[in-house]
Amino acid sequence: MITAVTSRKGGVSKTTTAVSVAAALAGIGKRVLLVDLDSQASASLSLGVPRSALFPCLADILMGSRPAADTIRSTATLGLDLITASADLQSFELQMGGQPGRESALKEALAPIAPRYDFILLDCPPNQSLLALNGLVAADNFVVPIVPNYLAVQSLEPLLWAAKRLPAAHGVRPRLLGIVLTQVDYRTRSARDHVNRIRERFGDAVFAVEIRINVRLAEAPESGQTIFEFDSKSGGAKAYRLLAAEMLMRARAPEVPKTSTPGRKVTRVGFPTTPQSLGRTDLN
Ligand SMILES: Nc1ncnc2c1ncn2[C@@H]1O[C@H](COP(=O)(O)OP(=O)(O)OP(=O)(O)O)[C@@H](O)[C@H]1O
Ligand SMILES: [Mg+2]
Repeated sequence: MITAVTSRKGGVSKTTTAVSVAAALAGIGKRVLLVDLDSQASASLSLGVPRSALFPCLADILMGSRPAADTIRSTATLGLDLITASADLQSFELQMGGQPGRESALKEALAPIAPRYDFILLDCPPNQSLLALNGLVAADNFVVPIVPNYLAVQSLEPLLWAAKRLPAAHGVRPRLLGIVLTQVDYRTRSARDHVNRIRERFGDAVFAVEIRINVRLAEAPESGQTIFEFDSKSGGAKAYRLLAAEMLMRARAPEVPKTSTPGRKVTRVGFPTTPQSLGRTDLN
């Protein structure tokens, strides 16, 4: 199964979510591949790959100079493999932008290696680039992280619409696995209000698990470790373990979560965790 973690908004925890969910799934014995689609290489650096060792990378695959299998590397987390990104991905955008069929380059490149994995997670870049489109076209489903604030709420609907419409124009319809609330800061009333607003508006399409602000999540990338290696007891580690479990449950469910109509009563998905149950210890 291929899942794109995507949003054209920047800084909403796409990379943190992709890396942490990938590591959590590997931690429960799944075979997982994380593909870094962002020329900033944040996911690759977060997993401890030095900038000087990013090659070979995804750009080599997409530009046709290497098969995907030749670029896969293992990570410090057992069961978690990685395809790195680099600034070379900008060349893919520039050189291939006008060529027909280029939006399917990633899908085609991953096809031969996909059977090796239970899950492939795509860390998408924060824009509407050809790479972001490649992520959606390659994906069976997608996850949209959102930070609960006014501007994010305003942009969510057009963002979801674009995430469905763009790949549909290329003959594929990835399913919305869910919207995940990230960097939630319950110390502010504004965040609480926006969480409620998003849940009322989007209903079951929103994951029950929320990822609260957690300094350990912000510190982990610099150490080159996943949150589970860095601080497995932190609130961030606990929350991402739960999110991975909820993602698994949703991926197995035949039903697509529907976005609710305004005013509809919110029903929680049948997952034994409420956001509240994560407790205030996450506010560290
Ligand atoms: N729950 C959290 N608590 C505290 N800090 C967080 C949390 N989630 C992410 N961060 C931090 O916020 C910043 C942005 O997160 P991240 O890089 O995952 O977002 P992104 O959506 O991938 O950004 P970009 O759009 O640039 O790719 C990073 O410094 C990250 O460490
Ligand atoms: Mg990122």
